[in-house]
Amino acid sequence: MKIGIDKIGFYTPPTFVDMVELAEARDVDPNKYLIGIGQEKMSIATKNYDVVAMAATAADNILTDEDKEKIDMILFATETGIDQSKSGATWVHDLVGIQPFARSVELKQACYSATAGLQLAMGHIALHPESKVLVLATDIAKYGLNTGGEPTQGAGAVAMLLSANPRILEIEKESTAYTKDIDDFWRPNYSEFAFVDGKYSNEAYLSTLTASWNRYKAQYQAQLSDFEALLFHVPYTKMGRKALQALEDEMDEAGTTRFDSYYETAIKYNKTVGNIYTGSLYLSLISLLEQGEELPADARLGMFSYGSGAVGEFFVGKIQTNYKNYLRKSSHEDLLNKRKQLTIEEYENILSTPLEVDETGDILLDVDEFVSSEDFVFVGTNGHRRQYQRANN
Ligand code: HMG
Repeated sequence: MKIGIDKIGFYTPPTFVDMVELAEARDVDPNKYLIGIGQEKMSIATKNYDVVAMAATAADNILTDEDKEKIDMILFATETGIDQSKSGATWVHDLVGIQPFARSVELKQACYSATAGLQLAMGHIALHPESKVLVLATDIAKYGLNTGGEPTQGAGAVAMLLSANPRILEIEKESTAYTKDIDDFWRPNYSEFAFVDGKYSNEAYLSTLTASWNRYKAQYQAQLSDFEALLFHVPYTKMGRKALQALEDEMDEAGTTRFDSYYETAIKYNKTVGNIYTGSLYLSLISLLEQGEELPADARLGMFSYGSGAVGEFFVGKIQTNYKNYLRKSSHEDLLNKRKQLTIEEYENILSTPLEVDETGDILLDVDEFVSSEDFVFVGTNGHRRQYQRANN
């Protein structure tokens, strides 16, 4: 039985910062951000957008009423959690209107956990072929103003519906996961911003890639020429180039050209959204599928997922016939093109202004001018209970 991605879509908030303006404000050569880091824009979540609001909007955009009746598991992957006990999946379950007899849970392992979600969904569907599983990858990447990580921020969510007989991408059951306890990037519970050892995190990403790939290669007698394209976790688009370079010795000239060319297509969305942590690999997948020429049916995509701390996984997706019919290219292009550019002053205010808490400890938020009317939004807390609504309600 084939199991994999039947539907996929992403959401990113309607405001962004232009990387040239940010570079000028930081007195940095813009080419460092545009070429050295490889980012053109980065999405910024204003106060009404948290991981639940973004994931609910992403999910709502891809699901039909029939899907909502069939989904019996929601896996909410994030490292930007908003509650130590309750999972983000339960709010999304309610906002989107999934039938009640569903298992809802949150998963965490830095940028890797959506891939864990995908693998758990595969096992669940193998046991229950009629079921559908909603996997959500949702995050806000924040390093803070004037930090080394500042140009590698971003915000967004990817929603994937996993099922038997998927129409977009079959996920092969063979994969290799790898774990090593390191401190390259982490965010203690008391900190709003991530801590990172930038250079070490790049090295850790690459050594996890080679460890995962070498093991996969040995276990399954694989070689890079088995794949039509390679996809990577994309914290910033230069990182995937470094990943391709790390594997270059195993490619012939035609392979290098092919993988480089697909990579260009696979980063079109990431270049203008930034790092969305758990969703970044899947944003890159969407970019390749939507922005590229039609890939041959059964073409195999080698995929590398990385989450600091660190866990990596090399696995493979197989293209399904007519997959282009099930994508959401024009909605995604509209979403990106209609975003509003923030001034650097607006962006700095957003990042540096904490949510106001009243004397009872609650937060009361207006729906601000940056919000898109159809989106789900966070509007504060009532008795410490988080409140969400459609922006245009
Ligand atoms: P930095 O020190 O600001 O930058 O840190 P740099 O000095 O290393 O320069 C970056 C690149 O720009 C270099 O190229 C420069 O040569 C080039 P490279 O050597 O890397 O090929 N450059 C220029 N190019 C053209 N024109 C110019 C110019 N000037 C310089 N004028 C760093 C960069 C990415 C480390 C920093 O932004 C950072 O710490 N970011 C956050 C950490 C990160 O994204 N790490 C990635 C791997 S870990 C990961 O992926 C996990 C993660 O997603 C979290 C999770 O799992 O949850 C982060």
